Amino acid sequence: MDTFVCGKCGYVAFGSPPDVCPVCGAKKEAFEMDNTAIKRPVDSKNLNELEKKHIPQIKITKTCDLVGSGYVDANIKIGEILHPMETKHYIMYMDIYLDRAFIGRYHLTPEKLNPVLGIHLKVNSGKLLVLENCNLHGHWVSEVEI
Ligand SMILES: [Fe+2]
Repeated sequence: MDTFVCGKCGYVAFGSPPDVCPVCGAKKEAFEMDNTAIKRPVDSKNLNELEKKHIPQIKITKTCDLVGSGYVDANIKIGEILHPMETKHYIMYMDIYLDRAFIGRYHLTPEKLNPVLGIHLKVNSGKLLVLENCNLHGHWVSEVEI
């Protein structure tokens, strides 16, 4: 599946560019196809340290009852080895997709936050994809079945 990157905010669209960027409002013309925009592990069964620090870890929890039953929580942590959150090197944002459709962005700042996120979904099926952007090492993704 082709990936298109917004030249203004870094948002990545799967399949085709949107008419308007859902994150920053840029027009379709601001998008460029870039199928190398997302970093992939060289060998997914034998990750190197850079990969261990960047590939999102996603844990689905089906027991949350904050908003009634039948919904799903997802806990996300960047890196099997927790990624640094220092001024010079940190996770800038996490974008969340359901079945490759964008549903939200979480912006992070360095120093006071760990690169983790808890979200509560209004659905209980589909594929949850998390795309993170490291200021030095770019975009990395994980996708899991809910
Ligand atoms: Fe990094």
